[in-house]
Amino acid sequence: MPKIKVIHGPNLNLLGQRETKVYGTGTLAEIDDEMKKMAGQLGFEISAMQTNSESEIIDAIQKSDYDLLIINPAAYTHTSVAIRDAISAIAKPVIEVHLSNIHKREEFRRHSFVAEVAAGQISGFGPESYMLALKAAQKILSSGDPQLSR
Ligand code: DQA
Repeated sequence: MPKIKVIHGPNLNLLGQRETKVYGTGTLAEIDDEMKKMAGQLGFEISAMQTNSESEIIDAIQKSDYDLLIINPAAYTHTSVAIRDAISAIAKPVIEVHLSNIHKREEFRRHSFVAEVAAGQISGFGPESYMLALKAAQKILSSGDPQLSR
C-alpha cells in the first residue's frame, strides 16, 4: 500500500479560529479526518503531522518513510530555502498545497520556494485543496510517468 505523508506547517493548528475570512471555519482535525477517509478509499496509508518548527519539517522530509509527500509549508513557503533543499534532496514526488490562493493575495505570498521542486501546486480551494492533492497523488503513484512526479 503506498504511503503518503502530510505535513501542515506553522499556524495551521489554528485553523477554524485564525483569519476565518481567508481560511474558513473548518479545523485541521476535520481536514485530516476527511483525508484519512479518502485515502482509505484510494488504498493509501496516510500519516499527517502539524508543526510550527522549520527544523521538524526538514527532519520529517528527510526521514523518507513515505512514497509521496503532500505539504502545506504555510509561511515557510515564501521564506525557506532549507525546506526547498530538503525536498530537492529526496527522490520522492511532492505536492504543494495551500488553502488560500496565494497568487491572489499580498505580493510576498506569490513566490514559493517549494513550487520549483514540487510536482505541482494546488492553491485556493480551501480544505478541498488537500483532497485534490490526494487525487493528484493517485495519478502520480499509479502512472509511473516521470513528468507527473517531478
Ligand atoms: C497558506 C498560505 C500562506 O501564505 C500562509 O502563510 C499560510 C497558509 C495557505 O494554506 O493558504 O499560513 O499556506
